[in-house]
Amino acid sequence: MKILVVDSGVGGLTVLDSTLQLVGGNFVYLADSKFFPYGTKDKHQLLDRLVQVVGHFGCDLVVLACNSASTVASQLRHKVQLPVVEVITPTCNYIFENSYTNVCLLATDLTVASGVYQSKLNDVCCTVKAFNCGELVQYVENGINGKALDMLLQKLWQNVAPNNPQCVILGCTHFGLIRDKIEKIFRDVDIVDCAIPTAKVVASGVKQWVEESLVIYLTTGDTACAKRLSLQTGYTFDCVDI
Ligand code: DGL
Repeated sequence: MKILVVDSGVGGLTVLDSTLQLVGGNFVYLADSKFFPYGTKDKHQLLDRLVQVVGHFGCDLVVLACNSASTVASQLRHKVQLPVVEVITPTCNYIFENSYTNVCLLATDLTVASGVYQSKLNDVCCTVKAFNCGELVQYVENGINGKALDMLLQKLWQNVAPNNPQCVILGCTHFGLIRDKIEKIFRDVDIVDCAIPTAKVVASGVKQWVEESLVIYLTTGDTACAKRLSLQTGYTFDCVDI
């Protein structure tokens, strides 16, 4: 079973890493760097790109390890006729199972504007206040982790805190990579990340158990991009032209 895990960059590695803890298989991780960032794209543009990317790889299961891409998951499923796992539904189910009724969402412009989280959570009587945090994505993608990022997070917390949320949803997989930093600044509030709830859904969709996993890491960026990603993540990224 070949599983394609897609994000615009490094964010989806949080979902892949959690998945590898639960299940083995043949994985292709694609950092679609050429189309980065996903979160500022128009949804039709993003859907067309995802159809193109999925069409390039003959795979059995697609994992959209990206919240922005997940907003068009049902349209993608329809177009590619393959099982597609996305990150938003498992995260909303986790919110519901834990009886949260007042949450804040940190996400990209596309995810916030899509209203997908808001409508799913409102359906289970949960109030959502959403914040556009697209700016953070650039920091994480480029591994910039210093004072400027701290200040941005402090400012964000000042806006989030007055809402007294029970939890803050990391509604962009990139944010999972700076979870430690977020936890330090967003004190006294639960942090909810999509990686584990999504990994459980992927694992339940994998029918054949494989002991050893094979993972190929690819980027649609140029060789300099592949080099940067390899250095930053510790995995060897190769280029693919899509
Ligand atoms: N990691 C992605 C997400 O979960 C996309 C970030 C971006 O490319 O804008 O939304």
